[in-house]
Amino acid sequence: MADGYERFIADMKQLTGIDLSLYKEEQMRRRLTALKNKYQAADFHEYFTLLKQDARLLDECLDRMTINVSSFFRNRKRWTYLEEHILPKLIEKRKGKLKIWSAACSTGEEPYTLAMILSKFLPLTDFTILATDIDAKVLEKAQTGLYDERAFQECTKDEIKTHFTQEGKLYRITPRLKQPIRFKKHNLLSDPYERGFDLIVCRNVLIYFTDQAKEKIYASFSESLMPGGFLFVGSTEQIFHPHTFHLQSSATFFYQRMKEEVALKN
Ligand SMILES: C[S@@+](CC[C@H](N)C(=O)[O-])C[C@H]1O[C@@H](n2cnc3c(N)ncnc32)[C@H](O)[C@@H]1O
Repeated sequence: MADGYERFIADMKQLTGIDLSLYKEEQMRRRLTALKNKYQAADFHEYFTLLKQDARLLDECLDRMTINVSSFFRNRKRWTYLEEHILPKLIEKRKGKLKIWSAACSTGEEPYTLAMILSKFLPLTDFTILATDIDAKVLEKAQTGLYDERAFQECTKDEIKTHFTQEGKLYRITPRLKQPIRFKKHNLLSDPYERGFDLIVCRNVLIYFTDQAKEKIYASFSESLMPGGFLFVGSTEQIFHPHTFHLQSSATFFYQRMKEEVALKN
């Protein structure tokens, strides 16, 4: 299609560092075409020229590329499974602080959900949560920690009462839950991964990537996990050949990093 899309991908990579060729093309093209049409640009090249001239348009485009929807305890049943079956194992074998990573954390609901659950088991000083996203704007919102009621659809009244203070129609996360969390900008497709995690939570972002990009990410997550550590993925994000990445399926949507000797045999 001679609409300048391939060139647009190369130009965006140079301008923002984001490689759109690693995201599934059909979805991405649909979203960006809607934006291009909104500004009546004849093709993607003309749309890119507009983006370079207007930071607001570029922001809007980045927003559209990186769907930011999130909520507390999203898919509650999975969090219950984490709380009842995975965390007790991690806590039992823990030697020092538990090290957790919420990757592609969007506006913070996911790392705060983790902090709420973990604080039932451990003092806040006994675990750390690295919370990362490619989008600096959502990280700012996460750090502010102010949410409207849409974020609470799967929360109990008690949880809201315990962990938030109401400010008009909004709810602010209690500052103490921020203590274990470190927010950082990180692109899963190009930045180096920190190591030594007991648990990595990465949900509802892998669906946007090509198979090739996903495989690279699985391999990197596996290397970032401690042997016996867990990867928690989203509801439509099962890994088809986990052993390829030295992971074994532990329950639906949970994978465990194999101990070295098991991994070597495969
Ligand atoms: C739908 S949200 C998922 C939020 C949360 N994990 C959840 O399940 O509720 C997807 C997030 O992935 C982020 N994202 C997209 N591409 C990324 C990349 N290459 N590296 C890191 N984060 C990315 C977006 O900015 C967005 O905040």
